[in-house]
Amino acid sequence: MSIAIYPGSFDPVTLGHFDIIKRSADIFDHVIIGVLNNTSKTPLFSLEERVKMLQDTVSGIDNVSVESFDGLLVDFVKQKNTNVIIRGLRALTDFDLEMQMAQSNRVVAPDVDTVFLSTSVKYSYLSSSVVKEYARYDVDVSDFVPECVISKLIDKMKGL
Ligand code: PNS
Repeated sequence: MSIAIYPGSFDPVTLGHFDIIKRSADIFDHVIIGVLNNTSKTPLFSLEERVKMLQDTVSGIDNVSVESFDGLLVDFVKQKNTNVIIRGLRALTDFDLEMQMAQSNRVVAPDVDTVFLSTSVKYSYLSSSVVKEYARYDVDVSDFVPECVISKLIDKMKGL
């Protein structure tokens, strides 16, 4: 059975992430979304909130599950008995950092490979940071995030 890990901060999950998740689920037997319990960044949403929003987002896809992880991504990948990491590439601006992560992951875990999926053109501008910035200024974010995330973002911006 082919298992792939799709890791990220998902603060919050966007339609761009969801696009990558659906396409990965068509390629691999099982996709595990790995939500990083960030230690260096201070996310807007707690780990539990990010995991829940992802679970609600993927509830209709049988071969996708959501888990959180701490520490090194390659350790999480091995713990899940796989060697495939999925990442989405939006534009050239992503390339340096993504290449650096993929290569450094391979230095510490030579059997782990990163598979890059090119983001669909309509989501090429989209990031969790852009979504948070728009939500802060009351812009309608329904073109950017799954339905279940919209009210969570509005509440968060109101300090609820
Ligand atoms: O959504 P993001 O913030 O772009 O995801 C980044 C992520 C989670 C893939 C990356 O920060 C990561 O793998 N963190 C875990 C720690 C780790 O393994 N670091 C070494 C890779 S350079």
